[in-house]
Amino acid sequence: MESLFLQSPSTTTLLGTVGILLALYVFFCSFNHQKKEPPGPRPLLVFGNLLQLNPKSPHSTLCELYKKYGPVFTVHFGAKKVVVLAGYRTIKRALVNHNAFSEKDISPIINDLKLTHGIVFANGDSWKEMRHFALTNLKDFGMGKKVCEEKIIEESQHLMDVLKEKHGKAFDTYQPVNYAVANIICSSVYGHRFEYDDPEFRDMVDRANKNTQLLGSASVQLYNYFPRLFNWLGARKQMMENAFANRRKVAELVEGLQDTLNPQMCRGLVDSFLARKAHLEASGNTDSHYCENNLLVTVVNLFAAGTETTSSSLRYGLLLMAKYPKIQDQVQEELSRVVGDSQVRVEDRKNLPYTDAVIHEMQRITNAVPWSVHRASQDVTFQGYFIKKGTPVLVLLSSALHDEDEWEKPYTFYPEHFLHKDGSFRKRDAFLPFSAGSRVCVGEGLARMELFLFFTSLLQHFRFTPPPGVTEDELDLTPVVGLSLTPSPHELCAVSR
Ligand code: HEM
Repeated sequence: MESLFLQSPSTTTLLGTVGILLALYVFFCSFNHQKKEPPGPRPLLVFGNLLQLNPKSPHSTLCELYKKYGPVFTVHFGAKKVVVLAGYRTIKRALVNHNAFSEKDISPIINDLKLTHGIVFANGDSWKEMRHFALTNLKDFGMGKKVCEEKIIEESQHLMDVLKEKHGKAFDTYQPVNYAVANIICSSVYGHRFEYDDPEFRDMVDRANKNTQLLGSASVQLYNYFPRLFNWLGARKQMMENAFANRRKVAELVEGLQDTLNPQMCRGLVDSFLARKAHLEASGNTDSHYCENNLLVTVVNLFAAGTETTSSSLRYGLLLMAKYPKIQDQVQEELSRVVGDSQVRVEDRKNLPYTDAVIHEMQRITNAVPWSVHRASQDVTFQGYFIKKGTPVLVLLSSALHDEDEWEKPYTFYPEHFLHKDGSFRKRDAFLPFSAGSRVCVGEGLARMELFLFFTSLLQHFRFTPPPGVTEDELDLTPVVGLSLTPSPHELCAVSR
């Protein structure tokens, strides 16, 4: 006993230190308690919650976790802690009413691919400038303007020529639709289209699409979570090769445009950029955001973000028409009644409420971009939970498009979601396929115009059916998961009407 009271100074120091540490621990815990972190499934060592995610449909697993843990929850992708925001109201509140979630999280593969310039994976002043520049240019050359409408109508004629050549036989919709949609970006960016059989154009589009798929693939995600362990993976190597081959091709096209540039008559976004750059340099500004890297990555971004998303949505639209022939009947009846044999124009949309509802519902149900990953730009308390600066924040757009509190039949293809009882078009707030807030899709206006004009032109001229021997029920809507959701490989028949 005595020895307990007659301690040596070193024991006293030790006990004192333990006491202070305990007090600090209690203080830290209560402090952290005030800063309550979002709940979530218990992570495993090393893997976090990765083993719980369905690799074929990770967004569906996250939607299930949303039901269990509520609209703000934590998941661990390996050692990486991610906060998920789910449900229409929470997403809207986070993206529109808060400015703490507008930065993008940069994963290792994005750094490897040198994609931190441009728009999609850029942050700060450079992102603001490039986003503003692209929006202004897409407006000048496209969105809402007659010139863009003409370009899409011209391109839909080329697409229909390809479909006519199939003579009603089954074909894979992938390439023709992809090339048509990619050409709309080419027209806006370079000022001209390419022939579908141009091998360099085909390679460029195929490489870009392959990379969009690989970016969301399980192996590239594995590399992102454990970059040191998995940097040898073939998928990563292929992505690097594709990306740098496309970067070289874009640089070559830009060089051609530079040689023939007339700043008074810009042919597309690249010309505008080059003219702006030259103007700034002439006025002595050598430190602007108008540098080569920003030009190349902005162009690459517009292709990557604007091709696969739009073409998958359109292909899903045709697949849904083949699967639900009665809905196809109604679209075709409305088109015949309102537009007849004339070319459909953007201004006809207001008189085509059923067709418009079908296009919206097709985007809702097929959910081209299931999530997007932002990050907290500062410490923030959101809906009662503390989110630390720098935490990746996954915005689960799927959960808004299938929100059970917002949609009458969340998992059914039901165009009536977008119709009032009197048959007029009904706008729905929870329709967020293009996201919302400061990072909302730059190409929303262009994509909506493309979907409307391509879809109506095709349905005016063709009846879409399953291939011989396949029933409507057998047409599979299960997506292939990449960065965007694309239809599984399939064939359809386009029978001239
Ligand atoms: C149906 C077609 C499309 C869908 C569903 C779609 C959807 C989206 C979504 C969900 C985002 C992410 C927003 C966020 O981070 O919260 C996005 C970003 C973006 N989209 Fe689209 N998009 C489509 C077509 C297009 C087109 C045609 C273009 C180009 C002309 C385009 C260019 C972009 C760009 C540049 C961004 C990045 C914006 C930024 O980070 O500031 N998209 N898109």
